[in-house]
Amino acid sequence: MKKLVLTMGIIGLTLQTLQAKEVRTAPVLFEQKCQMCHSSSIPKTQQEQKKMVSPSMAFVMKNTVWGIDSVEDNANDAKLKEITISFMKDYIYYPDRKKTNCEDISFDRFGVMPSLKGFITEEELDVLLPWVYDRFKPTKVNGKWIEKK
Ligand code: HEC
Repeated sequence: MKKLVLTMGIIGLTLQTLQAKEVRTAPVLFEQKCQMCHSSSIPKTQQEQKKMVSPSMAFVMKNTVWGIDSVEDNANDAKLKEITISFMKDYIYYPDRKKTNCEDISFDRFGVMPSLKGFITEEELDVLLPWVYDRFKPTKVNGKWIEKK
């Protein structure tokens, strides 16, 4: 019995550390806090498109980076990343149509993103957002933005 209790304790502890560790990695955070709304790939079939509750992450990042780049003419890559991340950090807690870089069509179809205050911490955002940026940002080729697929 003692042995069993001990084993259970060890399993419990291991699970706890595993969970704590998991929550801190960006891909897991994305899966738990964003992906249920923003799919990580662009939906291919009509059926998949109909099921969407939000634009895909690549679409959202294209609009965001594109929009910011167009008003920040001289921003180099590092600066663009920094500004985009601070925009997202603000938007995720205080979404507002007036701040958006997305087109009207996103709002007509999906409405405004709900605030994630209380759902994701600032520390988690600091881990997650640089990863989201690198993973989903569009790339500029010969002055033209290409969306990530
Ligand atoms: C409950 C659904 C939902 C969740 C969860 C969600 N979003 Fe959104 N998000 C939306 C919708 C709908 C829009 C489009 C309308 C808008 O821009 O407000 C959006 C838009 C955005 C935008 C574009 C902002 C703009 O309009 O310029 C960014 C950036 C974004 N989301 C990032 C995230 C990140 C990162 C996460 C995870 C931490 C996340 N979202 C989680 C629904 C969601």
